[in-house]
Amino acid sequence: MRIHFHGDGPDSRAVDGVSFNIRRRQTVCIVGESGCGKTVTALATMGLLSIPPAHIAGGRILFDGQSLLDLPPDQWRTLRGRRIGMIFQEPMTSLNPVFTIGDQITEAILAHEDANESEVRQRTIRLLEDVGIAQPDKRIDDYPHQLSGGQRQRAMIAMALACGPDLVIADEPTTALDVTVQAQILRLLRHLQARRQMAIQYITHDLGVVSAIADQVYVMYAGVMVEQGTTDHIFHQARHPYTQALLDALPTRKKRGQRLYTIPGSVPHPAYKPEGCPFHPRCHYRQPSCVQIFPDLCDYGDGHQARCPILYNKKIDVEDR
Ligand SMILES: Nc1ncnc2c1ncn2[C@@H]1O[C@H](COP(=O)(O)OP(=O)(O)OP(=O)(O)O)[C@@H](O)[C@H]1O
Ligand SMILES: [Mg+2]
Repeated sequence: MRIHFHGDGPDSRAVDGVSFNIRRRQTVCIVGESGCGKTVTALATMGLLSIPPAHIAGGRILFDGQSLLDLPPDQWRTLRGRRIGMIFQEPMTSLNPVFTIGDQITEAILAHEDANESEVRQRTIRLLEDVGIAQPDKRIDDYPHQLSGGQRQRAMIAMALACGPDLVIADEPTTALDVTVQAQILRLLRHLQARRQMAIQYITHDLGVVSAIADQVYVMYAGVMVEQGTTDHIFHQARHPYTQALLDALPTRKKRGQRLYTIPGSVPHPAYKPEGCPFHPRCHYRQPSCVQIFPDLCDYGDGHQARCPILYNKKIDVEDR
């Protein structure tokens, strides 16, 4: 998948070689630093990208065998909500402040189903209960500002689940929450997933969250997928220097008395990405070829791939992490 933005100056190549699969009942994490194209990828998967300025430069999106990119808007609307649910980072921007949460969840159901209102109200109360909101029969009539941040995020999850979707796309849903509430929301998502048999595409910049929730992990850097594998591959046998650097930057890896490692430099602007490997300016394994040649994915077997021929060819001993 390639998604570019037209503007003044060179095209912004926000997503430039991203490919992933999500199977039923699976949790797939997409992880990478700010600006690497995670949200743009998610918006494209939901048909919410404004085209223009965005422009699909290549690739396709298949959902249950159906190609989504050429789907007309009314079919997109049916798909979203009914088969694909969405949870965003900041519920205040997604929940409407002038309607009660009950009204908003009810509306989400009625947009896709012919059901009578009192029945839908009962269903909404059950949904609020399912996502762990206490006294749901009272909370249903609350406005978003009357709820805490964690409760608002739970209400958003209830809305995303209202029509029993097969896939839920969650874009940094816990970033704005404190760690305790974050852990509760992750537990809730795992619990709901097991009960409802849905797939989750979970987007985050935080590898710590990935270990708590993912089956399969895709690491993105500057619009490019640089490594993919199971959670075990990524955490114990990382084969891309960027993944290794993200791991080293985890607070839990910090050794006593050491300062927290941060990756030097920053993600390049998508209009001015370097030639060759996009990570080369920040990479301490850099060789002359990295500056010129865009790296292929190297296969480590068992679904584990990394886009770094230097580590692959040299068989540099990457000690088990
Ligand atoms: N409408 C737009 N026009 C031009 N460039 C855009 C547009 N939307 C996003 N981009 C660019 O695409 C790149 C990827 O953005 P994206 O929001 O997907 O990053 P992200 O990985 O989700 O980051 P974060 O972790 O901060 O949410 C950024 O450099 C951003 O500036
Ligand atoms: Mg984002």
